[in-house]
Amino acid sequence: MKRPMSNFGSQVMRVFSGSRCSTFAMVWSFMGFVVLLHLISVCRQKDAANEGNHLRTSNRPIYLELETVEEDNLQIPPPKGKRSPHATKSKNKNRRTHPIVDEFLDKKSQIRHVFFPEKRTAVDPMNSAGNDSFYYFPGRVWLDTEGNPIQAHGGGVLYDERSGTYYWYGEYKDGPTYHAHKRGAARVDVIGVGCYSSKDLWMWKNEGIVLAAKETNETHDLHKSKVLERPKVIYNEKTRKYVMWMHIDDANYTKAAVGVATSDYPTGPFDYLFSKRPHGFDSRDMTIFKDDDGIAYVMYSSENNSVLHVGPLTEDYLDVTHVMRRILVGQHREAPALFKHEGTYYMITSGCTGWAPNEAMAHVADSIMGPWETIGNPCIGGNKMYQLTTFLAQSTFVLPMPGQQGAFIFMADRWNPSDLRDSRYVWLPLLVGGPVDGPLEYSFGFPLWSRVSIYWHRKWRLPKGSSSSTK
Ligand code: GAL
Repeated sequence: MKRPMSNFGSQVMRVFSGSRCSTFAMVWSFMGFVVLLHLISVCRQKDAANEGNHLRTSNRPIYLELETVEEDNLQIPPPKGKRSPHATKSKNKNRRTHPIVDEFLDKKSQIRHVFFPEKRTAVDPMNSAGNDSFYYFPGRVWLDTEGNPIQAHGGGVLYDERSGTYYWYGEYKDGPTYHAHKRGAARVDVIGVGCYSSKDLWMWKNEGIVLAAKETNETHDLHKSKVLERPKVIYNEKTRKYVMWMHIDDANYTKAAVGVATSDYPTGPFDYLFSKRPHGFDSRDMTIFKDDDGIAYVMYSSENNSVLHVGPLTEDYLDVTHVMRRILVGQHREAPALFKHEGTYYMITSGCTGWAPNEAMAHVADSIMGPWETIGNPCIGGNKMYQLTTFLAQSTFVLPMPGQQGAFIFMADRWNPSDLRDSRYVWLPLLVGGPVDGPLEYSFGFPLWSRVSIYWHRKWRLPKGSSSSTK
């Protein structure tokens, strides 16, 4: 049975038939608008792809050199006989390991000098041939002002506004590498946190060990048999203390805690306060981040490295609060290195494969507390294998490039598991800008986020005009 059309229905019909022309016009102009947007977005993607050797993040000529895509062809020699036990182990542990990782972990690799260039090629600021002054050579030995290899692994840099000086803190690993347990990771007994100072981010003076291991007290968190990794320092304006957070563990990585220490001076000595499991959860690789408004946050891999946790610290930066969010759930990321650009938060992380390198990912968020979105592998240039292994290194920190908007220094560790003290530093330019490669959230065909790009360079230096560079 047909129902009679309601009064309202008939009115609507009349309105529609009366304005059929304008409805058509509206529909067509809307479709035209959508098609136009689509065309613009396709053109933008083509432009980006056509840029060839220069994936420009913007029209900033100062960065052209940094953004040059540098190829670095790497020939892997055919496998000869048996690999070293470490290489074999890594293969079994992580089936998706790239052949270059096996080669990298093979102490007897014929191309070991490519991964760990010989000491005679060291970057030596006190004796550098004119042409190489102020150049970074990722992967080479880097000497301090006394001519000793810098020992600041898994580190971070603090810019101390009070003294206009950079301080680089990291794991001081200048001891023998051994295995505490048959199946355990290679380790060096804890010596402490090394600190280096610099005005130009290139020439570093050793300021000594600012938080030292305990030699005799076996129950102490800092006993040499334990684990102290990834120390990071921030300054608290209210308490006027330099506050250090670090990963504290036992040799089996079962304690999974953070440790906190403070000092009145950037060069220490730091007083160790305590360790704890933040928010009651296991915490391994970690970092801290001080936001523009003075609020600081801790971020750590948790729940057996399956997820990252993030939460604000108390005002004195000495503890966590009860607020915590789980982010990148189920993505199994570690080695977080956080930074901020134009109000947006960014982060580089690694996968979880111990000392073996793996593929980096960039992540982005409007709020540090999340939600965070993964926007892909940021590594550009070198070769495919470098890109899949973060240039054979693992993220540790991202430092704003002095005086350069949107430009940062990506700091990573090229771990040497057979001799951890000889692990190298990979510092490379990181730029924010340009279209992302997706898949991502799109708004009218435009990606919501900017791309994060880390460019490989065999040698590079800070652009002229960096406020710290003395060139
Ligand atoms: C890595 C971690 C390093 C260190 C290493 C030990 O996953 O990022 O900081 O803990 O494992 O194997």
